[in-house]
Amino acid sequence: MTSESFDFAPLLRPGLPPSAAKWSGFPKYNFTGGNNDAEQLPRDGLIAAATAVLRREGRTLATYGLASGPLGYRPLREFLVAKLARDAGITCSKDEVLITSGSLQAIDLVNGVLLAPGDTVLIEQETYQGALTRLARLGVKPVGIPLDREGLRLDALAAALDNLKGRNIRPKYIYTIPTVQNPTGTIMGEERRRELLRLAQAHGVPIFEDDCYADLIWDGRRPPALYAMTRHGGVIHIGSFSKSIAPALRVGYIVTGWDMLARMLALKTDAGSGALEQMVLAEFCTPYFAEHVPRLARGLRAKLDTLMAALAEQFGTAAEFEEPPGGIFLWIKLPDQVDTIKLGQAALAAGVAINPGPEWSTDKAYAKSRMRLCFASPSADEIRHGVATLAEVCRGEFGVPVRIANVAQRAGM
Ligand SMILES: Cc1ncc(COP(=O)(O)O)c(C=O)c1O
Repeated sequence: MTSESFDFAPLLRPGLPPSAAKWSGFPKYNFTGGNNDAEQLPRDGLIAAATAVLRREGRTLATYGLASGPLGYRPLREFLVAKLARDAGITCSKDEVLITSGSLQAIDLVNGVLLAPGDTVLIEQETYQGALTRLARLGVKPVGIPLDREGLRLDALAAALDNLKGRNIRPKYIYTIPTVQNPTGTIMGEERRRELLRLAQAHGVPIFEDDCYADLIWDGRRPPALYAMTRHGGVIHIGSFSKSIAPALRVGYIVTGWDMLARMLALKTDAGSGALEQMVLAEFCTPYFAEHVPRLARGLRAKLDTLMAALAEQFGTAAEFEEPPGGIFLWIKLPDQVDTIKLGQAALAAGVAINPGPEWSTDKAYAKSRMRLCFASPSADEIRHGVATLAEVCRGEFGVPVRIANVAQRAGM
């Protein structure tokens, strides 16, 4: 019997999110999501790692949690302890690291422990859509704090904290992506990090630090993580292998004290994240992560250059952006008359998928004429042709860009 022949509708629990759309394949020019560069995937290294680790330890797959317990595969946690110390200045033990099914599960677990309907959290005004949709589903109010070129604006944060205090509201956390912010690409400097920690501490509000993109910085230099800089605790740190290795593996992690991890572990209902991907990652990353990541970053940087050149050529001054210091996204302002939700629909019909700004912001009006383009997954040719098609659709819908600079190059597309 198929589910279609039985009417489940009257039995569904109230408050479910809308049904998921059926997947109909990737669009021809895909600038959406956080997909990675297929050419840069360390395929041979992963194959060798899978073979080696399965030969050596494959028998442990016969037990839940391998031989490592519920926090995740021990060598992967040990790799993270060393990596986080080297790159982010974090001092932690392997028992303060919980491996999760993607950092999305990390977000769910942090939210699961801290948030109840009606709560308030502080969040960067432009932020990760997945964080916003989760808050909406939980009935939690996000207060958006505007950003500048260095990320979260602390004057606005201080004002929001004071305002909430005046109304007897204690926000549950400040969610920030301080190191290559999604979608704006900013990196918060060390001094501002120090001030942010001071402000959060003074108001008794924890910081939820999402360091998803921190490995992908062009010059490889990053400030210490907020988690590393705090002297009073109060920071929960999450990260992911999705952007540095591959999103389909679904491996992320949480770093925090055991007291909080123990609460999260009690909510982690999957009896452990996928073991094989943890084993392969540990086997590959321990010797090769440090050389893989700068190579990946160089490839991404080249694609960013291609995207910026294509935008300059096709949109001219109609597309404004700050060049990001790392990551996989470009955050773009189009002229005020452009509604990027409408542009997104029209572009999709022409085979180009973009992320409209309002889906990545708490201020829908501010983000109306903004969009996010992911440059990691399309090829250089797809970037050029996709941007040319997008410019044509945008001109047809909104009259901008007024003139497309290099029409000749598009002949024969
Ligand atoms: C800021 C941020 N956090 C978390 C995630 C979730 O990533 P994953 O679950 O693949 O680790 C993403 C994905 O794009 C993201 O941009």
